[in-house]
Amino acid sequence: MTNMLWGGRFSGAPDALMRAFNDSISFDIRLWDADLTGSDAYAQALARAGIITPAEADTLRHGLKQIRAEFDDGQFTLAAGDEDIHTAVERRLKELVGNVAGKLHTGRSRNDQVATDTRLWLRGEISALRTHLQTCLSAIVTAAETHLDAIMPGYTHVQQAQPIRFSHWLLSYGWKFARDLARLDDVARRTNVLPLGSGALSGNPLPVDRHFLAETLGFDAISENSMDAVSDRDYLVDFLHWASLTQTHLSSLAEDLILFNSTEYGFIELSDAYSTGSSLMPQKKNPDSLELIRGKTGRIVGHHMAMLTTLKGLPSTYNKDMQEDKEPLFDTVDTLAMTLPIMAGVINTMTVHPDRMVAAMSSLLLATELADYLVSKGMPFRDAHDVAGQVVQLSLATEQPLWSIPLPAYKSISPLFDRDVHDWLNFESAVERRRSPGGTAKDSVLAQIAAMKTLLA
Ligand code: ARG
Repeated sequence: MTNMLWGGRFSGAPDALMRAFNDSISFDIRLWDADLTGSDAYAQALARAGIITPAEADTLRHGLKQIRAEFDDGQFTLAAGDEDIHTAVERRLKELVGNVAGKLHTGRSRNDQVATDTRLWLRGEISALRTHLQTCLSAIVTAAETHLDAIMPGYTHVQQAQPIRFSHWLLSYGWKFARDLARLDDVARRTNVLPLGSGALSGNPLPVDRHFLAETLGFDAISENSMDAVSDRDYLVDFLHWASLTQTHLSSLAEDLILFNSTEYGFIELSDAYSTGSSLMPQKKNPDSLELIRGKTGRIVGHHMAMLTTLKGLPSTYNKDMQEDKEPLFDTVDTLAMTLPIMAGVINTMTVHPDRMVAAMSSLLLATELADYLVSKGMPFRDAHDVAGQVVQLSLATEQPLWSIPLPAYKSISPLFDRDVHDWLNFESAVERRRSPGGTAKDSVLAQIAAMKTLLA
């Protein structure tokens, strides 16, 4: 094995299947940028510590720069024996600059190297995902503003409950995404801690300035314990938890939208751009975008579980099990980099049908208003709830909406009902009565929109 990093104590070559089993280059190649960045900083730190000469550092850095150009141009070619990205880069560096390449790894281990690379990589991805999440949130805020006057049935148990503004429903997801944004910032903070300089597990024997490395690589802090540094994957679990929860929120929103997009509801219609057809039924226009968003939740939650399961019961410091952290991480990032912008696209392009919302509204959505009406006349709420229930029974038995039941019938149930009862029973005023902060009245919804715009600014 020509370019193995660890061949010295071996006399036999690994079994071919074992080689394939052990290699991670097929997936960790995407860490190339981070690996080159980390190595460039490490070359500088070695020179500052007097381990290599400034000229040697320049040679190494120049070689790394050439490798970067090869990757950028899609010209980098793998060689047999490139076990992982770290091996591949070191092998190529030696080809380009000769034996001095062998000095780059002084005091460094792939254990602190891979931990550094993954953090550097994820840091960049988090910033891209943050933008996608903001875009999705902006789409929600814009739609909430555009359709401020649309009133729809609000549901609990998928049963009509009380009238609400369509915007209020939309913003209920907006707030979940707002919390996801804050959680992501926390993950970013925990990710941005530098493990480099921890060696294999016990620290670096050279006077390498870890604070210089942190500053050069843009890390906020350095890890405090080398054994923890090479084994800490907490930030990945945090990230995957964030991803699971964010994707779960997307999934719930997708489910609501799928229902609202159905013929039975018809509250919204997805644009053609986010729908697909059926190979058999010519009339079909299916919300596949949203079904896939809902469906992708399984794999992301699965990746979260996979990571925890891999870490469970690991002994101290680095174990090769940890190589299994990458594929779930990469797939999670790739998935959310699609689900978030697709959700934003669905929201930005859907048609909203306020008329269909009103047409779907049963007068019984106002049963709570009836109880509140009696409360306004001095009846205790518990009794009012019971009396309103009797009116509901009458409405169902006589198939009359609440607003069509004649006053004498109302009065026979309670003498507190008066001629103003019919005026009281309308959706708009029911909504406008919910003026408390966080309620569905127009002012409350406008306040939410303003708060969310501040948050996005
Ligand atoms: N490919 C390895 C990983 O992803 C790099 C670290 C290897 N470290 C070791 N001691 N074999 O975890």
